[in-house]
Amino acid sequence: MADQAERLRAIIKENRSQVTPARVIAVTSGKGGVGKTNFAINLGICLSKLGQKTVLVDADLGLANVDVLLGVIPKYNLGHVLLGDKKIADIIINGPEGIKIIPGGSGMDKLANLGEKKLAQCLEHLNELENSSDIMLVDTSAGISKNVLKFALAAGEVIIITTPEPTAITDAYGIIKVIAGSNRDLPIRVVANMVKNEKEAEEVMERLSAVSRRFLGLNLERLGFIPADAVVSKAVKEQLPFVIGHPRSAVAQSVNEIAVRLIGGDVGRTTGALSFFERLLGIFKQVDQANENLPN
Ligand SMILES: Nc1ncnc2c1ncn2[C@@H]1O[C@H](COP(=O)(O)OP(=O)(O)OP(=O)(O)O)[C@@H](O)[C@H]1O
Ligand SMILES: [Mg+2]
Repeated sequence: MADQAERLRAIIKENRSQVTPARVIAVTSGKGGVGKTNFAINLGICLSKLGQKTVLVDADLGLANVDVLLGVIPKYNLGHVLLGDKKIADIIINGPEGIKIIPGGSGMDKLANLGEKKLAQCLEHLNELENSSDIMLVDTSAGISKNVLKFALAAGEVIIITTPEPTAITDAYGIIKVIAGSNRDLPIRVVANMVKNEKEAEEVMERLSAVSRRFLGLNLERLGFIPADAVVSKAVKEQLPFVIGHPRSAVAQSVNEIAVRLIGGDVGRTTGALSFFERLLGIFKQVDQANENLPN
């Protein structure tokens, strides 16, 4: 058994050395309902359109809803892969413009409980997926929970979404503080969503940047802003992402500009030797003092 697991690990290692792994970007926020999922889907589609092989992982462990916004009902999620019932290829949803969606569901946290052999097999498939894509977007749930932090810290880059609401800005700062406290090298970019205009976006960004600079000595990158627009909820009802259904809307254009900027921007440097899923596993397995001290 141990030998087989060992061999699998060697294969994983060998495959990895021949490819460039995907940029893994976690989309997160302090406050819930600020537009992460809508942003992640539409951003993913724009990135796909721009020629980036993009995978969107729905890592919202509570209410997975990427599929709802796309009007598809996934039968299986990552949990089934981890239990060995399904292969990764069986659970992938092919979305618009070539984007691939992985319904994470509650399966993600099962990763830590797998036996050695199953784990090695699963990691091999997950790594294959990571290695065959350019960008992997991870849509997380909100808040400074342990799970959100695990995904953010396992990713190579983080995008924080906030709205102009003071509570959203305060909570965004809260999560930035915790992420930066655990890994100062993780590039953190900010998107202001549901703003009235560019001026309001600047004010939001400045408030967040000022406190981050002052109290954390951290320079946040301003990735862009998205106006508040009724077309977003219209697209949700239509179950068709707005960059597809309403490509000329201001929101679609904003997200497209963000996608272009993201491709041109700095690539996260923390990817290192381990894949996203291996780092995630490592973090899930940590029951040491450091993890115990993370806020609930
Ligand atoms: N730019 C926007 N303009 C208007 N409404 C928006 C905009 N972005 C998001 N919304 C609305 O905000 C609501 C929440 O969006 P979404 O589900 O994407 O947020 P979320 O951050 O993923 O939420 P959760 O924390 O529950 O996962 C939706 O009803 C959506 O229509
Ligand atoms: Mg969401």
